[in-house]
Amino acid sequence: MKSLVIAVAAVLSLMLGRPAFADEPIVIKFSHVVAPDAPKGKAALLFKELAEKYTDGRVKVEVYPNSSLYKDNEELEALQLGSVQLLAPSISKFSPLGVKEFDVFDLPFLFSDEEHARQMMASPVMEGLNKKLESKGVLPLAYWDNGAHDYTANKPLIMPDDFRGMKMRIQGGKVQDAVARELGAIPQIIAFGELYQALQTGVVDGEDNVPSNIWTQKFYDVQKYMTLSHHGHLTYAFITNKTFWNSLPADVRVALDRAVKEASAFFNDAAAKDNADAVEKIRASGKTEIHILTDAERKAWIAKLMPVHAEMQARFGKDFIERIYKASGFTPPQS
Ligand code: LMR
Repeated sequence: MKSLVIAVAAVLSLMLGRPAFADEPIVIKFSHVVAPDAPKGKAALLFKELAEKYTDGRVKVEVYPNSSLYKDNEELEALQLGSVQLLAPSISKFSPLGVKEFDVFDLPFLFSDEEHARQMMASPVMEGLNKKLESKGVLPLAYWDNGAHDYTANKPLIMPDDFRGMKMRIQGGKVQDAVARELGAIPQIIAFGELYQALQTGVVDGEDNVPSNIWTQKFYDVQKYMTLSHHGHLTYAFITNKTFWNSLPADVRVALDRAVKEASAFFNDAAAKDNADAVEKIRASGKTEIHILTDAERKAWIAKLMPVHAEMQARFGKDFIERIYKASGFTPPQS
């Protein structure tokens, strides 16, 4: 009987991340898919350090980088089940949760720069979206801005027509799918942890990402061309299991909230510099030729992709899209 009680306590504690016995630390598993030296990897390690320090060791954070615990498609489910307590996925991966609204941020060229992306994430529009996540048991603690997406491929992508027939990796979601199709490409959802190999073996011809991921995952090793297109944006939601977070002792939660704030500030300061450095390192590697879109090329890309905005009105509703335009400072170009 006693061993059964101990076993049940241990299973429950694993599920909730809570200690079975009073003197054991609360274990928080933080899973992510990027390299430890990417901005998210560094912010995760800083969060661990601060969380353990501010709780005087009552909390122990275990960080699992590089999809070593869960891949893209598994980690959200694991969070909902309570098998992991912290994640920081790209918000483009939320549609399998049944919160399709987050896909709206993949509308091409929605954010003119990082300032506008941050303004969007701090706007009141996010309150409604956060509630939708909470209704799925997922509590957003912060949003982290990782900058603009650029394309890489095994052939130069200069004008929209260059995408014709290319197999392009997407993270997921209806908007990314529509963007690839509008360009005449063939979209394929591939987990981030499987992307290097997919590029290397030609399962896909190209992908889009932030330079710090292209550098730290060594995609430049297997991609001859990169276009600084800034057509999309990578935002992370630093999320936890709502039941778990609310079950924490109040003083532990206060200490963790402090660690969340500081790790978030670190992330948002580090990301832009890491991306700029990564572009230079990729250039210096001599393996990937980097093209910066001219104004005329950029105009051609925008003109080509604006129909995706029109098409997506049916999915999101015109009012919602207009609220997003207002909050992000986006003005549709006059055709
Ligand atoms: C991707 O899947 O391309 C990235 O969003 C991975 C990440 O978390 O940066």
